[in-house]
Amino acid sequence: MTATQTETNTTRTIKPRRMDFDMSGLKSKYFFRGNPILSTLMYALSASFPDGERFFIDSVRHYQKDIKDPVLTAQIRGFIGQEAHHSRTHEDFNAQAAALGMAMDKAENHFKRRIAMAKRRLTPSRHLAITAALEHITATLAQWTLENPEAGISGDDHSPLREMLIWHAMEEIEHKAVAFDVYRATVNKEKERIVVAKIVFRTFWVQMAIAQLILLWNDRKIPSLRHIREAWTFMWGKNGFRSWSAPEFKRYLQPGFHPNDIDQGHLVEHWHQNYPEVSALQV
Ligand SMILES: [Fe+2]
Ligand SMILES: [Fe+2]
Repeated sequence: MTATQTETNTTRTIKPRRMDFDMSGLKSKYFFRGNPILSTLMYALSASFPDGERFFIDSVRHYQKDIKDPVLTAQIRGFIGQEAHHSRTHEDFNAQAAALGMAMDKAENHFKRRIAMAKRRLTPSRHLAITAALEHITATLAQWTLENPEAGISGDDHSPLREMLIWHAMEEIEHKAVAFDVYRATVNKEKERIVVAKIVFRTFWVQMAIAQLILLWNDRKIPSLRHIREAWTFMWGKNGFRSWSAPEFKRYLQPGFHPNDIDQGHLVEHWHQNYPEVSALQV
């Protein structure tokens, strides 16, 4: 463990924030730039969260009793609280999307089946390695979202998504190292961590794409060429998420990597001042 890592871990407190988002602000199915590919990408991510984040909680909880470090113990409690809130908030968002006619139950069932299979077939140590890898994806998504507001969360769609993403992104950055540290303190198999992450990073976008196809198919919606081009730029263009994040994923696969090697703290400090409109939604 490096000196920086120890310092970051001991100073970071993880506290869930209760928020009051107005889901009725989501008024049209293809709210995200009017683009069905980008909108279903947001729905697919949101459909994966309720069960996905409960899976994260269960994976960490399995090892909770083995953790003796009081700082990490407190961080686990904060992590569980934050993920439980995220799960419930995304359930509300998904319910609103379903009320508009999106087949959210079918997309959610897709992820439910995948998670149930992982729970049935894999060991608790693999569950935790999957969780740590997915937490790296969410922290990377979070950094990109907060650093590139023009790409994702600006604009005037008036949906609650922007506020939800800012809040969720901040908390993902705050707790990004918890599952990783629990893995290190208990399982600590560097080779397994890396092999599992390679598989997770490859399959994550495939699973999202399947959920998007389910949503588009059920709405009998065919994206236009313009939508395809715009979605391509969003992902693969200059500063697009996939092109920007490729080196970040490679870093995780290096032996000895730790999430706190990537400094994202400045993105969550002073959030009250940086995002007063989100701060106002805290209850
Ligand atoms: Fe989360
Ligand atoms: Fe998380």
